[in-house]
Amino acid sequence: MIFRQLFDHTSSTYSYLITSRQGGEALLVDPVLENTARYIQLARELDLRLVLAVDTHIHADHVTGLGQLRKQTGCITAMGEMTQAECLSTRFSDGEKLKLDNVDIQAIYTPGHTDDSYSLVLPGRVLTGDTLLIRGTGRTDFQNGDAGAQYDSLFGRILKLPDETLVYPAHDYNGMTVSTIGEEKSHNPRLQVSDRAAYIVLMDSLVLNDPKMMDVAVPANRKCGLAKAA
Ligand SMILES: [Fe+2]
Repeated sequence: MIFRQLFDHTSSTYSYLITSRQGGEALLVDPVLENTARYIQLARELDLRLVLAVDTHIHADHVTGLGQLRKQTGCITAMGEMTQAECLSTRFSDGEKLKLDNVDIQAIYTPGHTDDSYSLVLPGRVLTGDTLLIRGTGRTDFQNGDAGAQYDSLFGRILKLPDETLVYPAHDYNGMTVSTIGEEKSHNPRLQVSDRAAYIVLMDSLVLNDPKMMDVAVPANRKCGLAKAA
């Protein structure tokens, strides 16, 4: 498998280019609009056919590249079935396998950061979107976020993966690129809670500013980034 982690400096977003082999079908996860040309160039350089682009959830801090990628490459665009994005080729549901040549990818519904958040499970690794971050978790105070649901997604699903599973989040603000489930269980401060109620209290106590781009990004992302809001 070829697995490339790509970074957007402006929003500290990680996007992921995944394929089984050079010359094969490729998937892009959480692409950022401004980097579309870079993704397409990299796919060309590696002789990949971009067939699928996925957002783990509707992002509030950057505009998605899904719409432009579909326009320019003809790839299928997909998100989970709860999403309010109106512009997708298809939607996946909990437990569904994504179709990509020779790569096993399962979408699992992990709401909490938003009500449309999914994680993608691959052999030996998981893309956690903004549900589980390295030494953090995604905020739950807007876009139908729900701290209790996030606790269930974390402790009931993601943290049930084997300890050695590599964790690749959608963001990191401290220069960390990858972690493991075991490492996060032991050292992620948000996960050191006694129970669900304690996690809700912890998340409700956070005082956070709205993301700078939220008022632009959320409406634009409901249109796959093809029409920015005024
Ligand atoms: Fe997010």
